Amino acid sequence: MGTPVDPVPPLIRQALADASDAPGYPLTAGTPALRDAIAAWVARACGAGVDGLGVLPTIGSKELVAWLPTLLGLGPGDVVVVPSVAYPTYEDGARLAGATVVRSDSLTALGPDPRVRLVWVNSPGNPTGRVLPAAHLRKVVEWARERGAVVASDECYLPLGWDAEPVSVLSPQVSGGSYAGVLAVHSLSKRSNLAGYRAGFVAGDPALTAELLKVRKHAGMIVPAPVQAAMVAALADQAHADAQRERYRARRETLRAAFTRAGFTVEHSEAGLYLWLTRDEDCWDTVDWLARRGILVAAGVFYGPAGARHVRVALTESDAHVDAVAGRLAES
Ligand SMILES: Cc1ncc(COP(=O)(O)O)c(C=O)c1O
Repeated sequence: MGTPVDPVPPLIRQALADASDAPGYPLTAGTPALRDAIAAWVARACGAGVDGLGVLPTIGSKELVAWLPTLLGLGPGDVVVVPSVAYPTYEDGARLAGATVVRSDSLTALGPDPRVRLVWVNSPGNPTGRVLPAAHLRKVVEWARERGAVVASDECYLPLGWDAEPVSVLSPQVSGGSYAGVLAVHSLSKRSNLAGYRAGFVAGDPALTAELLKVRKHAGMIVPAPVQAAMVAALADQAHADAQRERYRARRETLRAAFTRAGFTVEHSEAGLYLWLTRDEDCWDTVDWLARRGILVAAGVFYGPAGARHVRVALTESDAHVDAVAGRLAES
């Protein structure tokens, strides 16, 4: 269903343990070591320059997604644009702020709506695994800048490109070399198996991250000190992330072949942690068919009405379970 199952790498657990004597309040902005580690990782993974880049650690990325509209001061009358098939928390966050949600993958279809204050993009996408090309992202950024709206790019699956190379909103080909109006949202939950630690961060427009910092300080949205130390160790080490990526690659190949042989059509899924599948029937019929074989998947309609004929299969299962799924599909 999507929760990581592989062990937390020992070097990260050690860093957490070494920082466990933490009687004082942690810094909401992150320790200097963490801020440096985030900036260095963003430079490497997103191809972004660190000059003028704002960074801020978050308590996992879900809380930031859920509270961003509120933290930015959005409210009734403001519009938040989310992808047509999307991670549900974008919509939840807009509702928490009392703002209006519009589902759309095409901003031109929206027309000149002055009330749009925030646009969410998610590439590679959950649940579809779709990768948005740099030119598409650039158009979104230009459209938003013309209207004074913020683009929040949820990039928590950026390191998991398979058949396509995901591009960050912070890369110069998208941002044009300026971070004005853009925020990239990242997570260590999947890259480093840290979902249980709650470790994420946001990077981009320094004026926006400064504003977020101000509110988050007073709201108590502070990453615990031992987790900050664990994040430094995780961000500095690429070897464990490469090993985890290889585990997901192997599981993806097994599952993709098994579902295809069983008559499923795989759509998008060129990157990220999911296969987006259809048998060209209502998603609940597919969920039932699989459940009868002891295989649990997410109904596509969870992610929006446009997902009603798809199911989402996560790559986050042990190798033994993945092999069992392939075996059961082969018998069907
Ligand atoms: C698209 C997307 N964004 C954000 C999150 C939240 O991740 P976390 O809070 O573990 O960083 C998830 C989790 O599955 C996700 O799929």
